[in-house]
Amino acid sequence: MTMTKKYFLAPSIIAADFANLAKALKTCEAAGADWIHVDVMDGHFVPTITIGPLFVEAIKRNTQLPLDVHLMIENPEAQVEAYARAGATHITVHAEACKSVKQAVRQIQALGCKAGVTLRPSTPVSKIRPALPIADLILVMSVNPGFSGQAFMPEMVKRVSELRKTLDALNPKAALEVDGGINLQTLPLMKAAGANAFVAGNAAFKHPKGPKVGICELRKLL
Ligand code: DX5
Ligand code: ZN
Repeated sequence: MTMTKKYFLAPSIIAADFANLAKALKTCEAAGADWIHVDVMDGHFVPTITIGPLFVEAIKRNTQLPLDVHLMIENPEAQVEAYARAGATHITVHAEACKSVKQAVRQIQALGCKAGVTLRPSTPVSKIRPALPIADLILVMSVNPGFSGQAFMPEMVKRVSELRKTLDALNPKAALEVDGGINLQTLPLMKAAGANAFVAGNAAFKHPKGPKVGICELRKLL
């Protein structure tokens, strides 16, 4: 299954050229990406609108890689089934948007997907605490959700090391993923702090030598 490897690189597809989606996905595969990170934004939970289930289904048809779907949307409980049907492997929800983060995890797992929980940098970790023993993935945001290409927030390194300790005690099989401003400089900091899954948008797709080099260079650090 997807969690048996030790480290995972997840290029964020919203930073790719949407008009050449199939090509971007092939590049990810050829360059050694482990998952495809899919940022779903609804214009309410975050100001931006990106993609919905139809687009996820199109991604699914064009890659063998697991789809790591990050829902930045209001009322995610009403939408998770559509993303599960569209082919998501992991579905990650924001604690700020869930009625009960623990119930949302159970709902996602009952749909046959791996369940992730996440939170804004300004939200205290206590918000996801009830889900930590049962989630398959914990995502630490190192930027405010909403856009690719923002600056990494170094104070989130400490959040990762604290969560690493908590998960080692409570749920050592869960993936600890980081998202936002991950590049050749910041990835090693998060890896040393105990993260094992790394989302990269700009550093992967906007590399001056092209996405293949961008993804390969990041993957070499894992
Ligand atoms: C931010 C998204 C990220 C974003 C990452 O709201 O969740 O996944 O696409 O992009 P970079 O790596 O450029 O910060
Ligand atoms: Zn994301």
